[in-house]
Amino acid sequence: MAEPSLAKIAYQTLQQGKGLVGIAHKEISTKLMEILAPEAIPDTSPITTDLLLDLRRSIKDLEEIDWLDAERGLYPKNLLFEAPWIDWFIKYPLVWLDMPSTWKRRKNKKFQDIPHSINKEKYPEYYLQNFHHQTDGYLSDHSASIYDIQVEILFNGTADAMRRRVISPLKTLISKNYSDLNDSELKIFDVATGTGRTLQQIRSAFPKSELTGLDLSASYLKQASKYLNNSDNELVQFIKGNAEKVPLLDSSFHAITCVFLFHELPGEARENVIRECYRLLKPNGVLILADSIQVKDTPKFSQVLENFHRIFHEPYYKNYLKDNIDVRLLNNGFESISSSSFFMTKVWSAIKS
Ligand SMILES: C[S@@+](CC[C@H](N)C(=O)[O-])C[C@H]1O[C@@H](n2cnc3c(N)ncnc32)[C@H](O)[C@@H]1O
Repeated sequence: MAEPSLAKIAYQTLQQGKGLVGIAHKEISTKLMEILAPEAIPDTSPITTDLLLDLRRSIKDLEEIDWLDAERGLYPKNLLFEAPWIDWFIKYPLVWLDMPSTWKRRKNKKFQDIPHSINKEKYPEYYLQNFHHQTDGYLSDHSASIYDIQVEILFNGTADAMRRRVISPLKTLISKNYSDLNDSELKIFDVATGTGRTLQQIRSAFPKSELTGLDLSASYLKQASKYLNNSDNELVQFIKGNAEKVPLLDSSFHAITCVFLFHELPGEARENVIRECYRLLKPNGVLILADSIQVKDTPKFSQVLENFHRIFHEPYYKNYLKDNIDVRLLNNGFESISSSSFFMTKVWSAIKS
């Protein structure tokens, strides 16, 4: 077997480092919570050693496929090392400062703690909540400024590796369905783009394509624009809007991605988003969805999924875990539906018939 290259060792070391930071952060914050806010401690089931080993193996598999996809040229290797490190480092203390209010919200079961300045009529009711006890929900610059770091910690540094799993099916299906087009003619739409981390991965894989991101949070979009529209690259367009009713014409895009949205939507909204994606895609358009793994695909991780639900305010997660997304895709006209799981993420691909 060939020796791993220096770059691969550097990648593995970075991932191990991020994993250790994530674990240390969680251990220390749990200890602090036990001392300062014991009433906020969630009632979780212990993770057995076997399960822990399975989780570690699953992370290794994810990192291996991430590395292989870079070696195959699906995206540049330097993407594996990219993040706004200095910005994250500066903002990291804010995550700690934010913690007491998170504990308080959890303890008091206060889940609709949204800034008073927000005009609630502009948002669907299900959205006006503190998902994962997030301060201000998704509706402030403060929330947007620490979201990426919180997600990295939650997934022990694997969040971007999971987001990148959309790229392989995206590239494969685009080159199959639109072989006559070059990258600069492609229009790709990222639904619920948040702070734009998925779009950043996509841009590295499709540097010349026209990219658009949509989200309900102006604050998250500002953050996304700050990260994505700060160089000589093509301008990424951002739209503030509801994914259930996108203010764009039919057949606007060759491909649509949607990452980590569905577990935060009620079933009816999931259905509406899928219908919108179908409407917005051109004939033979490619839809790639990514979200939490579901119980039926990965029963060995059901304890982890249950704990996630107990620790964080995720009101629609339980329903999502058993939702048949394949049937929803099929009923809305999609075909060639397939899915695969990578660590904590399941990725669906589907084609507009
Ligand atoms: C868990 S975050 C995922 C963000 C991003 N895709 C990522 O990979 O980090 C969920 C995002 O969905 C957005 N969102 C939730 N409901 C939405 C809706 N109905 N329409 C548009 N965006 C929505 C939130 O504002 C938030 O940015």
